[in-house]
Amino acid sequence: MNRRDFLMWVGVGGVASSLPIALAACSPKAEKSQSPASPPRADGFQPIGTVAELKQNGQILKKEFATGSLLVVSNPTDSTTVLAVNPTCTHKGCTVEWKADDKSFVCPCHGAKFSAEGKILKEPASKPLATYEAKIQGDSILVKAS
Ligand code: FES
Repeated sequence: MNRRDFLMWVGVGGVASSLPIALAACSPKAEKSQSPASPPRADGFQPIGTVAELKQNGQILKKEFATGSLLVVSNPTDSTTVLAVNPTCTHKGCTVEWKADDKSFVCPCHGAKFSAEGKILKEPASKPLATYEAKIQGDSILVKAS
């Protein structure tokens, strides 16, 4: 085997051995807590998760909601209700993170901060987060995309 054949053999082997890792990273199991939301009901509300799921994870993030991404958190002033926002930061589009201790959404990119209701608390964002009507019904969390 000459040098060229050897390098080709190593290159093919490297690609072949990394294929299962690449496939695993792309599989739906990698985003276990971000499964697609169920279809909307006749009243426009869409089941997006359960109260148990919200309590366990502290939030429910859906990347495939009707209007884009959706982040649902427990209302910090009334734990019997929930709040739903589009977590896409209005500054440059990063995904904001819920900070329960501070009762706010904070953008990891440039530090914008939003209230639990999506209002701007700190720039550079110049528009509030989009919000959605959300409610708890039984053990289900429902959000209306409108
Ligand atoms: S993208 Fe959020 S502060 Fe810049």
